[in-house]
Amino acid sequence: MRHIMDALDLSPEELDDLICLAKRIIDNPEKYSECCKGKKLATCFYEPSTRTRLSFEAAMLNLGGSVLGFSSADSSSAAKGESVSDTIRVISSYADICAMRHPKEGAPLVASMHSRIPVINAGDGGHNHPTQTLTDLLTINILKGRFDNLKIGFCGDLKFGRTVHSLINAMVRYENVEFVLISPPELRIPDYLRKGTLDANNIKYTEVSDLDSVIGDMDLLYMTRVQRERFFNEEDYIRLKDSFILDAAKMALAREDMLVLHPLPRVNEISTEVDEDPRAVYFKQAQYGVYIRMALIMTLLGIKVD
Ligand code: NCD
Repeated sequence: MRHIMDALDLSPEELDDLICLAKRIIDNPEKYSECCKGKKLATCFYEPSTRTRLSFEAAMLNLGGSVLGFSSADSSSAAKGESVSDTIRVISSYADICAMRHPKEGAPLVASMHSRIPVINAGDGGHNHPTQTLTDLLTINILKGRFDNLKIGFCGDLKFGRTVHSLINAMVRYENVEFVLISPPELRIPDYLRKGTLDANNIKYTEVSDLDSVIGDMDLLYMTRVQRERFFNEEDYIRLKDSFILDAAKMALAREDMLVLHPLPRVNEISTEVDEDPRAVYFKQAQYGVYIRMALIMTLLGIKVD
């Protein structure tokens, strides 16, 4: 049995296999439509979600399985004071696999230690979000055709944005990847990532606070919202929330083949006028999230179709 807490829990080879499976599913979804018949996915979400929870559920339903779960801490026994370890012990006898999101960093890891079924971290506080990273990797693979030789801009809340942390960790394993980290000084990436991942791997990166001056020279621009729920005070959020707004004028400065990704939800950081630009791929990206989660569920349950 295997849990997924971090995108790095999968080796580059396993990641390739997962991406290949997701692509085979895209090409022939019918072939996979019954392969998880009789299996149940539990979605235990202690924090709000639209895409992650529903794409997990859609993924399991597309595979012919069933879903159960809760979508907020308030509607689970967490509201009565139950620990995640007790909850997962019980869920282990109700379901075959569990996706868990929690506002506390490490909570899904604690759950995995007490679980008899595979646990997937569906986002733990400001720490990690491995299945968003798998979604991002599938998007990059399909639309860009490579992971090597990429210059990737990350823009917005790089301090609290768990999708950024997970994707940086995953991308440093490829050749000649360079990062441009665009954020207000207060929202720069955490030190553990700068030292432990970027410096430790001799990765080329720059930290800037202005998007216009760097947007012209990137293969990918990964936009993120400012993570209001992780701020200690509302004034700081209000001051920082509109630090970057990607609009048509900024897109005019970018290369013709630069793709714009965003894990969504978008707040103000991408003007809706950008949605029509063929380089804006964030809605497609959300769609790919279903296929990669189908591939992940199959893999963790040991189900083979081909
Ligand atoms: C992200 C998350 O929850 O971290 N959303 C998602 O899962 N697609 C990004 C965000 O909330 O800003």
